[in-house]
Amino acid sequence: MKAKINGIEMAYTDQGPDMGPKGLPVVFLHAFPLNKSMWEPQIQALADRFRVITLDLRGHGESSAPLWRYTMKQFADDVKGLLDHLAIRQAVLIGLSMGGYVLFAFYRQYADRVKALVLADTRAGTDTPEGKAGRYAMAQAAYKEGLSTVEEAMLPRLLSPAALQEKPALVEEVAAFIRSTPLSGIVGDLMAMSDRSDAIPLLPQIRCPTLVIVGDQDQATPPHEAKLMVEKIPGARLEVIPGAGHLANLEQPEAFNKAVSAFLETLK
Ligand code: MLT
Repeated sequence: MKAKINGIEMAYTDQGPDMGPKGLPVVFLHAFPLNKSMWEPQIQALADRFRVITLDLRGHGESSAPLWRYTMKQFADDVKGLLDHLAIRQAVLIGLSMGGYVLFAFYRQYADRVKALVLADTRAGTDTPEGKAGRYAMAQAAYKEGLSTVEEAMLPRLLSPAALQEKPALVEEVAAFIRSTPLSGIVGDLMAMSDRSDAIPLLPQIRCPTLVIVGDQDQATPPHEAKLMVEKIPGARLEVIPGAGHLANLEQPEAFNKAVSAFLETLK
């Protein structure tokens, strides 16, 4: 489905019990440089009990990919626009990695629209100077040499060594997501991520139920980042997924779904 939001076409899915938009709304925000299809195992596991919404952030999947300008605030405004379009007053928001960065921007602006948060394989702090330089270098390489450079750089960040070795179908699925992302979206994300504000001061102000999830082999946003968020967000809970890298929802979907499902059941 598509909706006109903030001057772009936003693609989304909206599925719930009995094939209709019913139940507690749960909105999933994808990682860089992927799209809403990364949530397929979660749709399969949860849409019989919850209203599961996935969306392509601008610059990704089937949403419009304007040349500029991408910011976490713009992404958050787009998510809020979709909630308005669907007449959803409050939702549980689940963001993985860059999706989590968007959630911090969303919470800053629209806390009253958040029923609960799931922060998966993400971090609250900003990039180091070296991290920013790395993003600019990746943007340049993508522009000059093509998206295969992004695929090469990102696959070892996104997947654990075991998955890279033993799960060729998953590796190809993730590589295909990367190859399908427009250059404007990739470069836009990299600039937006390097410019994002520090969310650490926001953490003690988060007042909704919060679950933090991390793969125990996540190298991009390692478990110590998850522990920091749990320490600072009042009442937050931590779930560490064994045998999972950064894309914990795809590497260990059963354990990920079990953690999310148990958390969602407490909110009904
Ligand atoms: C992501 O998975 O969204 C990215 O690895 C986030 C990042 O590069 O900081």
